[in-house]
Amino acid sequence: MNDNPCVRPDPSRRFPDGSSVRSVRSVVLCAVLLGTAGWGTVRAAETAAAEPPQEAWLRERLEWFQDLKFGFMMHWAPYSQWGCIESWPLVEADKWARPDDLKAWIDRDRDMARFTRDYRALPKTFDPVRFDPRAWAAAAKAAGMRYVVFTTKHHDGFCMYDTRLTDFRITSPDVPFHSNARSNVVKEVFDTFRADGFAIGAYFSKADWNSPDYWDPSAPSPNRNPNYDTLANPEKWARFVKFTHGQIEELMTGYGPVDILWLDAGQVRPPKQDLGMDDLVAMARRHRPGLIVVDRTVHGRHENYRTPEQQVPKEPPPYVWETCMTMGDQWSFKPGDRYKSTHSLVGLLVDIVGKGGNFLLNVGPQPDGELPAEAVSRMREIGAWMAVSGGAIYGTRAVAPYKDGRVVFTRKGTTVHAILLASAEGAGLPERIEFGGLRPAPGSEVRMLGVRDPMKWATDAAGRTAIEVPAAVRAAPPCSHAWAFSFEVSP
Ligand code: GLC
Repeated sequence: MNDNPCVRPDPSRRFPDGSSVRSVRSVVLCAVLLGTAGWGTVRAAETAAAEPPQEAWLRERLEWFQDLKFGFMMHWAPYSQWGCIESWPLVEADKWARPDDLKAWIDRDRDMARFTRDYRALPKTFDPVRFDPRAWAAAAKAAGMRYVVFTTKHHDGFCMYDTRLTDFRITSPDVPFHSNARSNVVKEVFDTFRADGFAIGAYFSKADWNSPDYWDPSAPSPNRNPNYDTLANPEKWARFVKFTHGQIEELMTGYGPVDILWLDAGQVRPPKQDLGMDDLVAMARRHRPGLIVVDRTVHGRHENYRTPEQQVPKEPPPYVWETCMTMGDQWSFKPGDRYKSTHSLVGLLVDIVGKGGNFLLNVGPQPDGELPAEAVSRMREIGAWMAVSGGAIYGTRAVAPYKDGRVVFTRKGTTVHAILLASAEGAGLPERIEFGGLRPAPGSEVRMLGVRDPMKWATDAAGRTAIEVPAAVRAAPPCSHAWAFSFEVSP
């Protein structure tokens, strides 16, 4: 049994939905730490201009991708049992990733090696018997999400799919879940979401802290990078490159059509960590023509779109992008995590889409395989808003000015949507909605999404438009949090 104090059996522990801890002796409140990965220097460069890809087919794929607008991300693996931050506690230098009780555990014996051993033993207790990808896809669909990005392998190297290239995988005989009919988790997730109409994204960490050719076990590995000189040991590094290509090839051949290869760990780049990206991408596209590749933060031809993390750009960026963001405080499951309100999630979605981006919203499934009930109810509430207002979101693009006060604009052809964000949580619709910057074409009808009859409107000499909202609509609005109005603009 794992004797890490963070993994004390706690039969009284309950998940947010009131169900008790299963399978695990595991989940412990490994305290709260709102960490960022510390890619700070790379982030600064996110604002730099990016060239659109030269290939016409890829530009088309990116148009298709931008139409999707709302995606579901999940970080899930044996680390979910501890409720700690995914993978990062393994890195001695990344102290931000250690909640206080993990830190105490390491500091007590000053024994990082022992801690690492316990962390790496987590698969031996991983048995998420309530894993049901149909429930995940149903929750995502109800939210109005149209694509999924799932962690096939995070930095710790544990594979949530049936790789033949390492034993550190969900289908290994020493993982209790291996005998479950759904043990090839990635396949289950991809097949189920695909059948439900979702586009499929494979998150894959280029770094692998379990591979002896990335972190050589004969020496300490103090930071996220290889712990040996890759340039002086080209054969060893070449083994890692081959291993990585092999793993990606498995994902591109055994798991049905994949639309997005979402590559994390931006430190893995030339000159010292050269994965031969040209060859890797060519191989992946041989199997999956049309594949969108996101070599995150590396910039250049293999970062087909950009993925600012936990933040929304201040202004609409001049390139294709997606904000990835946690619904709670961390990417992986944390007991008692604080989820953002539906009101702020809808506000984020509108702000992101108004700036031309996609919103990839992350929830960490529980160690028993279920999604936290509170997250599911947020998803349902977002979905209620999307069912009314999705026309102002899906398939739209940014239009200048993207915003006037609390009104955010989106565009689809010559139709413009003006989305009014409620002044506060629970605030109702005002009698009049005013905005400048864009105006309905003369004679255009102005409609509110979810309301049958067109509304009265007028544009004054200064170019400001006012829409009158009838009392009956204010008394029974079709949705809360934000309201979308549509009209035609002159081409
Ligand atoms: C951050 C986290 C990493 C996570 C990623 C997702 O970099 O540190 O663990 O996978 O965000 O975007």
